Amino acid sequence: EKPKPAPVQCVGPEYRSESQKPTATVSTDVEFETVTVLPQTPQLIALLSKIRDRDTERGDFIFYSNRIIRLLVEEGLNHLPTVEHTVTTPVGRPYDGLAFEGKICGVSIMRAGEAMEQGLRDCCRSVRIGKILIQRDEETAQPKLFYDKLPTDIAQRWVMLLDPMFATGGSAIMAVEVLISRGVPEEHILFINLIASPEGIKNFATKFPKLRVVTAFIDQGLDEKNYIIPGLGDFGDRYYTM
Ligand code: PRP
Ligand code: URA
Repeated sequence: EKPKPAPVQCVGPEYRSESQKPTATVSTDVEFETVTVLPQTPQLIALLSKIRDRDTERGDFIFYSNRIIRLLVEEGLNHLPTVEHTVTTPVGRPYDGLAFEGKICGVSIMRAGEAMEQGLRDCCRSVRIGKILIQRDEETAQPKLFYDKLPTDIAQRWVMLLDPMFATGGSAIMAVEVLISRGVPEEHILFINLIASPEGIKNFATKFPKLRVVTAFIDQGLDEKNYIIPGLGDFGDRYYTM
């Protein structure tokens, strides 16, 4: 067996120039301006490397996923409206700042989306959370809706829709259809997602041109079983049961 080459040491915030980065560590470009991809910092790539590694055990998978989820929620909150708000500092000077405006809620697509709820709660204390249970058929990858329980005034709220994996886009599309049927305007929904496929993004953004997506990374594509590649396998299994 040939000895493995020593890993290249990447120092400092620049990581590597775009042209030097291995293909799989470059998020795929998409043409939709409603889609925001987190800044591709060395930290984020290192966190993604942890959770993509099949040898990462469950405790570490949860820990590193939660760190990325926190970054996603913080970025998602930047897409909500604010109003100008001036405060007085302890030294008696004005600070012309901002305040959040409007009511929000989270909606998780069960089961994997529930892993993102704590990250939202960490940023928005006592936020209301609704649930939609959608499961993808393991053979056909078609989504099936089993259950939903949503805040009664959801039509008056901004909705952070939570699901870490965005493969064909079928589950997310079905969840958005439920939200729209309850009166939530498309433009008041933010889909917060960890790893997307270009196919899923295209299906979704074409169907919902006003709905914003915040994701950490757009992967290369889907395999013959509609799993994201390189991906990280089944998120729900790795977070909850493996
Ligand atoms: C996974 C994932 C998404 C869906 C993505 O859930 O969490 O909901 O698949 O695939 P799609 O974009 O092709 O619809 P799954 O149905 O496997 O259930 P789980 O959350 O219980 O793992
Ligand atoms: N659901 C997952 O958890 N992973 C995939 O790659 C696709 C769907």
